[in-house]
Amino acid sequence: MAARKDTIFERFISPLLRPFLDEEGMRQFRHSVDWESEGDRFRSPQIDYPSYYSSQNFHGIERGYLNPDAAVTYDPITQYALPPNETWVRQSAIDAISCKPRRILDLGCGTGSTTVMLKQAFPNAEVIGLDLSPYMLFVAERKAQAAGLNIQWCHANAERTGFPDASFDLVTASLLFHETPPGTSKSILRECFRLLQAGGEVLILDGNQKTLRVAQWLTDIFEEPYLKDYAAGSVDAWMGAAGFEEIKTEDVWWVNQVTRGVKPLPVGSTVSRSAIEEDNMTGFAAPAFS
Ligand SMILES: C[S@@+](CC[C@H](N)C(=O)[O-])C[C@H]1O[C@@H](n2cnc3c(N)ncnc32)[C@H](O)[C@@H]1O
Repeated sequence: MAARKDTIFERFISPLLRPFLDEEGMRQFRHSVDWESEGDRFRSPQIDYPSYYSSQNFHGIERGYLNPDAAVTYDPITQYALPPNETWVRQSAIDAISCKPRRILDLGCGTGSTTVMLKQAFPNAEVIGLDLSPYMLFVAERKAQAAGLNIQWCHANAERTGFPDASFDLVTASLLFHETPPGTSKSILRECFRLLQAGGEVLILDGNQKTLRVAQWLTDIFEEPYLKDYAAGSVDAWMGAAGFEEIKTEDVWWVNQVTRGVKPLPVGSTVSRSAIEEDNMTGFAAPAFS
């Protein structure tokens, strides 16, 4: 697989992880799929990849997520990158949701690990996973099919999704913002605000910015081009600037954090936030996506 050999990841982390990885299984998966044809099933002709995305290596993989190797290796490696336990970390984010959403959009869904858990937590909700990588979407689709879940997958840029205003009541992004320049993260949050109905929630799970600021070795180890900029910023402040209220960040163990915000109800609104939390969505439009 096309990983650069001079990266810190390849020199130090990879040798440590290697005994725990099923490299033969990954190789077989890599060669058993026609990645270009499968990618074509997802590729949107409208996509114009942002340069931060197409010009960088991620995790030491050349061309980052535009290389099928990223999709093949993502899940086997990520299980060791989310201490104390990947499922527990993702579940902590889902537990922070206070509404009973009917339409959920998971931005930068990758291989769909959080997307699948969202659908399992809210089986009656319409769930869409959105990502810029057709290869990650292919792996996500396989995962949802294996779990017998009906999830839609969309190849698009989280900054400009193309969905109508106010068409979701929950928008999530897990492990996306440490890989986007802060200007992009802010613009994604503005898109979240546009996409949410009043009273809807945004939920961002990612690296713990406080921890990353003091444990600089963590930002040096991972081959993440924007991790230091992410660590220097504040998801709370970015959310506030996008217009969200009731913003709260909680630590998820010490390596991750989950930040939740709410799109305010219009002044004088007769629909209360508690009604939304109790699933009383009377008066809310319910567009369906096909
Ligand atoms: C570290 S992975 C996280 C995947 C998944 N959410 C998870 O929790 O495992 C980051 C993902 O964000 C996607 N991504 C990066 N920038 C994006 C953008 N502007 N729009 C949509 N997806 C993006 C990448 O393709 C990649 O799949």
